[in-house]
Amino acid sequence: MRVTVIGAGYVGLVTAACFADVGNTVTCVERDPRRLSALKERAEVPFYEPGLSDLVRRNIETGRLKLASSIAEGLPGAQVCFIAVGTPSLPNGQADMSQVEGAAREIGQAMDGPLVVVQKSTAPVGTIGKVRALTQAELTARGVTHQIGVVSNPEFLKEGSAIEDFTRGDRIVLGSDDSQAIATMRELYRPFNRNHEKIMVMDAASAELTKYAANAMLAARISFMNEVARIAEAVGADIEQIRKGIGVDHRIGSHFLYAGAGYGGSCFPKDVKALAHTAREYGLHAELIEAVESVNQRQKQRLFEKISDHYQGEIAGRTFAIWGLAFKPNTDDMRDAPSLDLIGALLAAGAKVQAWDPVAIEMAERLLPQQIGLTYSADAQATLKNADALAVVTEWHAFRSPDFSALAASLKDRVVFDGRNIWDPEFVRAAGLAYYGIGRG
Ligand SMILES: NC(=O)c1ccc[n+]([C@@H]2O[C@H](COP(=O)([O-])OP(=O)(O)OC[C@H]3O[C@@H](n4cnc5c(N)ncnc54)[C@H](O)[C@@H]3O)[C@@H](O)[C@H]2O)c1
Repeated sequence: MRVTVIGAGYVGLVTAACFADVGNTVTCVERDPRRLSALKERAEVPFYEPGLSDLVRRNIETGRLKLASSIAEGLPGAQVCFIAVGTPSLPNGQADMSQVEGAAREIGQAMDGPLVVVQKSTAPVGTIGKVRALTQAELTARGVTHQIGVVSNPEFLKEGSAIEDFTRGDRIVLGSDDSQAIATMRELYRPFNRNHEKIMVMDAASAELTKYAANAMLAARISFMNEVARIAEAVGADIEQIRKGIGVDHRIGSHFLYAGAGYGGSCFPKDVKALAHTAREYGLHAELIEAVESVNQRQKQRLFEKISDHYQGEIAGRTFAIWGLAFKPNTDDMRDAPSLDLIGALLAAGAKVQAWDPVAIEMAERLLPQQIGLTYSADAQATLKNADALAVVTEWHAFRSPDFSALAASLKDRVVFDGRNIWDPEFVRAAGLAYYGIGRG
């Protein structure tokens, strides 16, 4: 099929490259000149996602994946067009729909034949109706008639394993009452639906809400564990034992039960807020969902509180090594990363920060440029130079088994703050370090 994907972000580029790889002719449209030129001129993926560079390069070389700078350039001739643009939070928590709405208008200005428009961005209930109306209005203004099918197809991939998730995900959700558009989508997804039936066809509102419900549920598990971690600290219990104790229960399961420095990233924070906002729009108060977000906001301060308690509030002038900046391992995404909260609080308290991350330093520098008190180090070892203490904020594999004796020898105050509970407190203490984790009373 001839497919156009609007947006070359984590979702759009993975979608485009995966559909190209199974033989479709795909044009990915990206309006950000930096992202586009990296892709077009050097076949370079402008963010870190394991395996994506090879996939993109291979498909650009075969000519199955093309890049375009505008919808006007990239849409003509397409049978299916995915919208995979950003839907960030507005200050009131509502999803900012301007990118989706802009794309819908531009589709109407550029489409030159029957088209299935697939809404892949995470967007509130009612979005595909709006997309259809905006596209149709542009067609009407042009005085032309083309058939438009609209489908909601929320994306469930995770950064860090995006290709695997896209090609072997648990489900492919399609929301539409347009049977012809659904048939086209079934055909397009057929290569990824061979092992067992993964396609779930539902009404559009349910498809749109499924995505928000999935993210809110996962975020709720994290906030729940963070809340239990606070109780565990108070009563002298260990959240890591509790996690294992409840995770073996099949009704609960072991995923997303990790207490830590709070969740971040481009999805959970904004999607939980947007779902709560949708409830308010319908006159409901989504108490639990609002609490998921407020518990997380509080949790993002937790590591700083532990540092502050250890030093009895005397943080000014001290130097902290920070390991991990990305909101989770295997990505360089820094959107709403807990590291930003910790570094901000340390700098505000007059501390110096020496930070390192295996892949996210470039992204971090854009959000939090080097400034008085903040330097990004060349490697993990370099962060320790003249540092008083170390805090781990992202659970990268490379941080899991450091040489604790060497850490004890390097850190002036011989203290570590483990924001992801990746270390064994007894083992760390045996090396002569003071250890603080989350919920490890
Ligand atoms: N990142 C994830 O892990 C993930 C997972 C599932 C769903 N989602 C959802 O998918 C959507 C996209 O997420 P993302 O992380 O890929 O976003 P992103 O911000 O990384 O990428 C979106 C891209 O779209 C481009 N764009 C916007 N309007 C355009 C236009 N009119 N023409 C051409 N390009 C345009 C932007 O320049 C940007 O590069 C969001 O709604 C997000 O919530 C994201």
